[in-house]
Amino acid sequence: MNTMNKILILYYSGSGSTRLIGEILGKHLLNQYKVDITEITKNFNYNTIEDYSLIILGFPSYHCEAPNPVIEFVSNMPALNKRKKTYVYTTCGIYGGNGIRNLVKLLITKNLVTINYMVITGPASDGSLMFPTMMSKLLSRLTYVLRFHVTTGWKIKKNAASIDKIMKSLDFQLNIPLYKWYVPLNNIAKYFGENKYNEYKENIHIIKDRCSNCKICIKNCTSDCWSEGIYNPEFSSEHCEFCLKCIHHCPEKAIIFSDAMKDKMRLNRKFYKDLARKYFSSD
Ligand SMILES: Cc1cc2nc3c(=O)[nH]c(=O)nc-3n(C[C@H](O)[C@H](O)[C@H](O)COP(=O)(O)O)c2cc1C
Repeated sequence: MNTMNKILILYYSGSGSTRLIGEILGKHLLNQYKVDITEITKNFNYNTIEDYSLIILGFPSYHCEAPNPVIEFVSNMPALNKRKKTYVYTTCGIYGGNGIRNLVKLLITKNLVTINYMVITGPASDGSLMFPTMMSKLLSRLTYVLRFHVTTGWKIKKNAASIDKIMKSLDFQLNIPLYKWYVPLNNIAKYFGENKYNEYKENIHIIKDRCSNCKICIKNCTSDCWSEGIYNPEFSSEHCEFCLKCIHHCPEKAIIFSDAMKDKMRLNRKFYKDLARKYFSSD
């Protein structure tokens, strides 16, 4: 198979929603293309990008923007010699603001031309830990705190078809989402939200008698916040992005940032496997 048929799905994901959407998108494209899927990490080899004819970039929306590691990943990327087609998606609990728009503008400086994009509203990796579980379940009836929309599977399929068209077309038409004027009105909420989350970040710690020292938190953290300790892993908040991966994926629910969230449900592999069965099993 030559480069013309290769697609790279690059994603950043905390609890796993963005990873799952990338996997489902990839599954739809597998019949016709060679699809590689990989997580954005600090030691990513940028040279490999040249091997693909299309890059799909996925990220969760944090305070209506792409997470810092995604912005850094693109900022540190050497500009490509030739234009390359790109497709961008974000996952969010409510809405992603101007996050895709701002990232698309950064991608174009690297010669990555965004031809299309998609926003998927789904489980809120932050809200699910902050609301009481019963409230999350009730809210989930109105909004998406713990679920996807009934049409999410269809939406992904439709976008996979659009990616297929992009692959077959010679067109390099840049598609920048319109500026959402109301997003700056969010800045006050964003300011307090970020401050609150920074406070929570400082409070991330292990409940020692729950921890089995399995070291999954150390292995999973893409920001290297966890390191081996004498009895249990140790946390340093310095580079923490508050992606919540360590919290959602600790098998013993031993990582918390407040006592109130000790026994709340986690959005872990099993949670997303069950959602995938419910929303995407026919795909
Ligand atoms: C630090 C943080 C900030 C977030 N900010 C937003 C936001 O501004 N808008 C929104 O709709 N969802 C927000 N969310 C929810 C996530 O975007 C959403 O749950 C996303 O699907 C998580 O993806 P992941 O499971 O791949 O990490 C935030 C979550 C976190 C952890």
